Amino acid sequence: MANITTVHQAEPAGLGHAVLMAKPAVGDSAFAVVLPDDVIDADPPALRQMIQVFNEVNNPVILVERVPHEAIGRYGIIDAVPVGNGLFQVQNLVEKPHPDSAPSNLAVIGRYILTPDVFETLEQTNQDANGELQLTDSLRLLLESRPLYACELSGVRHDVGTKLGYIKALVYFALAQPDLELPLREYLQSLR
Ligand code: G1P
Repeated sequence: MANITTVHQAEPAGLGHAVLMAKPAVGDSAFAVVLPDDVIDADPPALRQMIQVFNEVNNPVILVERVPHEAIGRYGIIDAVPVGNGLFQVQNLVEKPHPDSAPSNLAVIGRYILTPDVFETLEQTNQDANGELQLTDSLRLLLESRPLYACELSGVRHDVGTKLGYIKALVYFALAQPDLELPLREYLQSLR
């Protein structure tokens, strides 16, 4: 039902570098980038919502969510103009800005529908101060040649890249299981 290919990024050289490693596997189709530390519960699923938008706008689409001021420095942040229905046209984007100088609190979360021309911009993008190739920086370069859209998440996201986020996600999904909900609630209450 599916062809699975694995590509190994031999060194931790940034998200952009990881995506660039997939260039030969992707070829010349549009493709999705899914960061597994952002676990999303949405109906319809976030990627399906984004593919629908992609089919309408025929340009890359990224997923965003408003984050608290103090969390801004952990994300790519967009500067964007609302175009209706939770959709934005991106004017600029910056990787992990200082919260006080960020253009908004709309954070890029780990879902992207991209077009293969992003590989060319990845090849032209300079490394950041940490020597990493950032996908955010390549998307800023891509903006010079085509529009980029951002879809605001309608759903719940868990950042399982933090210990607390991982535990919250486990509890959230366990409580949604009919056979686990009651015993888990009883257990959590017994801890007080
Ligand atoms: C990556 C991206 C960042 C994005 C984030 C979403 O950062 O570089 O733009 O906001 O994922 O989770 P990382 O979490 O790998 O530091």
